[in-house]
Amino acid sequence: MKKGFVALVLAAGESTRFKSEKNKVLHTLLGRSMLQLVLDCVKELRPQTVYLVVGHQKKQVMDEFRFRKVDFVVQRKQLGTAHAVMAAREVIKMEKEKDLLVINADLPLLRSETLRSFLRLHQREGNALTFLTAELDNPTGFGRVIRSGNRIEKILEEKEASPSQRRIKEINAGVYLFKINDLFQALPNVSNRNKKGEYYLTDVIEIMINANKKVGSYRTSQSQEIVGVNDRYELAKAVNVLRERKIKSLTEEGVTVYDPSTTWIDLNVIVGEDTIIHSSVILEGKTRIGKQCQLYPFVHIVDSRVGNRVKILSSTMIEESTIRDEAQVGPFTHLRPKTEIQEGAKVGNFVEMKNTIFGQNSKAGHLTYLGDCRVEGKVNIGAGTITCNYDGKRKHRTLIEEGAFIGSGVELVAPVKIGKNSYVGAGSTITKDVSPESLAVARGKQIEKSGWAKKKGKK
Ligand code: UD1
Ligand code: CA
Repeated sequence: MKKGFVALVLAAGESTRFKSEKNKVLHTLLGRSMLQLVLDCVKELRPQTVYLVVGHQKKQVMDEFRFRKVDFVVQRKQLGTAHAVMAAREVIKMEKEKDLLVINADLPLLRSETLRSFLRLHQREGNALTFLTAELDNPTGFGRVIRSGNRIEKILEEKEASPSQRRIKEINAGVYLFKINDLFQALPNVSNRNKKGEYYLTDVIEIMINANKKVGSYRTSQSQEIVGVNDRYELAKAVNVLRERKIKSLTEEGVTVYDPSTTWIDLNVIVGEDTIIHSSVILEGKTRIGKQCQLYPFVHIVDSRVGNRVKILSSTMIEESTIRDEAQVGPFTHLRPKTEIQEGAKVGNFVEMKNTIFGQNSKAGHLTYLGDCRVEGKVNIGAGTITCNYDGKRKHRTLIEEGAFIGSGVELVAPVKIGKNSYVGAGSTITKDVSPESLAVARGKQIEKSGWAKKKGKK
């Protein structure tokens, strides 16, 4: 029969090799923190409770995970992984009929399928302790699994291992399942007489074996999932594994990615079928891209929504904005937060917008700044149009009504309104509202002095 289990995630340790003011487990991989990734994996298996051991920089971690259905346990001093489990003794003991999953928080690549197989083996074998192992080409830094023949003897931390033991490639992944009673019988026997002066959780393996408890291991073939991110280079390598995984899953869902090696897509990003992503595209945060879109090279989109059949041309940056169906944006466009490009609109070269609604089928092809602006449908914005939305103290709004035509090189000094179907002559500086269906021109009159150049030449 399947027993319930509780999970204990160890995240109290110091992470000196990260050289960071931020706790290691809060560093992100494609938009999710290392700790969140581990919790996501654990939660797929529906544990009854998830306890999180915090200590070093605990306030940061608690602030970030306060609302995420975890119970905190504080480890006051960081005296090792066994000590961290000990810190949770009082709360865990109450769950004594269940199994306990103990997992390191620096394992962001572990997938729930692997964890599930491991849990099944533990339950099937009825072990007092089962631990997860993997064979790594480069086992440096990990605890090694010491066996005699096939029989498990112990786990030896790298620092404690002899040169020949260090050649062992089977390592301890940092994931354990315990019968709770057996664990708390063994834990008090862990000592800190070792090179690091720490209480190693890995010592309970030998202790339990000596107490004739049934100890087993599960060796996963998915060794690329087993990392223990200790520094930023390992973080970079882990990010790349996740990146490949994300791109692979998108391609399986019908997205074309021309160059996976230069494409960065955050884990939470959604992309619709038949969308084509060219090389060097970055999609971040809560971004959603619709179907049949084309994203050309060097497009960078953050927390934005893009509809269907949208074309985004090269070197375009889009932040916290919405682009509706069949619009076209870029090349070299910058859409800053709270911009909405409506259906069929076109925004082109060197156009910047901020907090602007740009209406259906409107066009702004070149060299334009629109800020705090509402542009209705079928408007034409000439090259070099600028909304002067800031008077040094406050921001003001511009409204351009349907069908209006703004000539090239126009300054619209906000607050100002351009009426429906009206025209603004090129080079105008508009300071007053323009009524519908009219023409406004606000520029110096052209004068001409005939023969002037000839006379100048004679002097
Ligand atoms: C640990 C294992 C090692 C294994 C490796 C897998 C021990 C003694 N060694 O080594 O066998 O191969 O993980 O990656 O467990 N932590 C606390 N409190 C502490 C110390 C650590 O909560 O006092 C937490 C850390 O935040 C971390 C986890 O425990 O998430 C593992 O600690 P870490 O220092 O990274 O252990 P390793 O030396 O990598
Ligand atoms: Ca580690």
